[in-house]
Amino acid sequence: MKKSAVKPCDFVVFGAMGDLCRRKLITSLYHLERAELLEDQSKIIGVARRDLTTESFTQNMLESLEQFLKWEIDSDVWQRLAARITYVKINLDKPDEYNQLRDVLDTENRVTVNYFSVPPSSFADICHGLAAANVINSETRVVLEKPIGHDLESSKVINNDVATEFNENQIYRIDHYLGKETVQNLLALRFANSIFTTNWNHDTIDHVQITVAEEVGIEGRWGYFDKSGQLRDMVQNHLLQILTLIAMEPPVNLDSDSIRDEKLKVLKALRPITIENVDTTTVRGQYAAGFLKGGAVPGYNGEDDAHTESNTETFVALRVDIDNWRWADVPFYLRTGKRMPTKVSEIVVCFKQLPHNIFGESNKRLPPNKLIIRLQPHEGVEVIMLNKVPGIDAGVKLQQTRLDLSFSEAFKVERIADAYERLLLEAMRGNQALFVRRDEVEEAWNWIDSIQNAWESLNEPAKSYPAGTWGPVASVALLAKDGREWEE
Ligand code: BG6
Repeated sequence: MKKSAVKPCDFVVFGAMGDLCRRKLITSLYHLERAELLEDQSKIIGVARRDLTTESFTQNMLESLEQFLKWEIDSDVWQRLAARITYVKINLDKPDEYNQLRDVLDTENRVTVNYFSVPPSSFADICHGLAAANVINSETRVVLEKPIGHDLESSKVINNDVATEFNENQIYRIDHYLGKETVQNLLALRFANSIFTTNWNHDTIDHVQITVAEEVGIEGRWGYFDKSGQLRDMVQNHLLQILTLIAMEPPVNLDSDSIRDEKLKVLKALRPITIENVDTTTVRGQYAAGFLKGGAVPGYNGEDDAHTESNTETFVALRVDIDNWRWADVPFYLRTGKRMPTKVSEIVVCFKQLPHNIFGESNKRLPPNKLIIRLQPHEGVEVIMLNKVPGIDAGVKLQQTRLDLSFSEAFKVERIADAYERLLLEAMRGNQALFVRRDEVEEAWNWIDSIQNAWESLNEPAKSYPAGTWGPVASVALLAKDGREWEE
């Protein structure tokens, strides 16, 4: 039946009644079941504090699917999935209670994948509980949800806690962007196409833009978000991961450590942003009330659950320099924000201006080529290039045109899998390439901490931007002073 041939697994979700499990994990497991990618003997074990039976927990998961699955539920698929589910009630801070797992796990015949869908403050308790119950062996894995800390120091504490019971090759740190189809495609695009492999450096590339814009505001997460801000919530992980995949050297193969070694080198080469250059390389913004999709929306401090006049940023734009041979003098401009006009994640690789123009007076300006990689939505790749306008009477008249490859049209895919589907599957299969290694997380925090510290020393208010716009005007100025502009 199933298409893969790996050891079955006991997939244990700690925090099984939480939002992530209900929205993402159960829906991903459903799709994996539907695609027959779960091994026949694999089990799903929900762990939470609530007094539930397996039946009531399973019913709860069905309700979650009804609420969050964008498809009609296929009852055969659901029956197969439901048959795998068991519920275990555990108070995470009570080591004795973990003994119950011994009755449901089969550590000899199945690999255990423990998914920590709980705040990091509980990670140590779970690790010790699993050790006390004696259900850890060399094949046991743990999957950690972000945030892995809020700075370098706190991330080290979390990593040390987990390392007391697990080796690095058992630890799978999630950055869900790495599970996105188009983010994975960056490797193919860069390393399977000679037109890019030979042109991917400071000789031909002028600069790179990475935009991750969200339409949503804080969505009831104000309390969490306010302690974090957009720099920690989005740049430390998602944007830096995208940047490393764009900037890294070719790995010797696709093994997890080969890829992660190269990504780490990029992180190490990031030029530090400190109090000396923070003014010229960063923009911090916060959305004010505005209009989005025709309706009025409140500002960040006017959100329902806001409780102070906060200065936390909801928008960040950065000029990032990578101090290595390949990227000398090629800035990477990053921007990400909440309450932008539309949800879009894309990378724009802007090539250099031609050194000489032979097309004369009528084509004075030859706009350089651009490669646009659309990560979401409308996943695809576009090349912007110049072509002659067809005709015999106008001479050579050039016009910008787009070579547009839409993945859904090119591959006739029924649907593009959600990032979590791929990540769960790879964790079950034991492939760490799509997960973040400890040294990557810590190097990223090291770089982010320096920006955060510089901002704190400056102590300036975040620049306001109306909801529904592309951020503060200072973001435009960040590129304009280098003679460049954001691709809109
Ligand atoms: C999460 C952030 O990691 O990513 C959220 O915590 C953000 O604030 C989300 O909204 C964006 O993910 P996606 O997949 O919707 O782009």
